[in-house]
Amino acid sequence: MGDVTRRDFMKIAGWAAAVTSFSAVTVPLIAYLYPKDLSETPADPVMVADASAFPVGEARVVQFGRYPALIIHTSDGLRAYSAVCTHFACIVKWNAETGEIECPCHEGYFDPADGSVLAGPPPTPLAALDVYTEGGQVYVAAPQEDAPQ
Ligand code: FES
Repeated sequence: MGDVTRRDFMKIAGWAAAVTSFSAVTVPLIAYLYPKDLSETPADPVMVADASAFPVGEARVVQFGRYPALIIHTSDGLRAYSAVCTHFACIVKWNAETGEIECPCHEGYFDPADGSVLAGPPPTPLAALDVYTEGGQVYVAAPQEDAPQ
């Protein structure tokens, strides 16, 4: 191998610094925009609310493991979904006036009954979570097939 000149060394060092800087910015950004699936959900159910203080028509965004979850008390009972939009991972919210789940980023709309897409760009429904009441408390849990082993 030939001698490495000072100029060659500076070029290599410059490229190494550029690649490192680019990776330091893009890797976390991609991880934020494309969060992993529900496999990172807690192994055990999480108590999220007092059932008596959660009337029909209300919703809450709660922390469920690494990601937020949206819990809605519909007239047909409690429903829970990942609050991470399936389009570009914005956090969805409940609109009590329209009775729909909305994504504020690109006007995506979801059905609170099953999390399906009503309108907008989201490619798939919201990921459903299990929700139940026990001892007067509302619990959220990963669906059985997604529950960590
Ligand atoms: S991120 Fe939700 S509609 Fe685009």
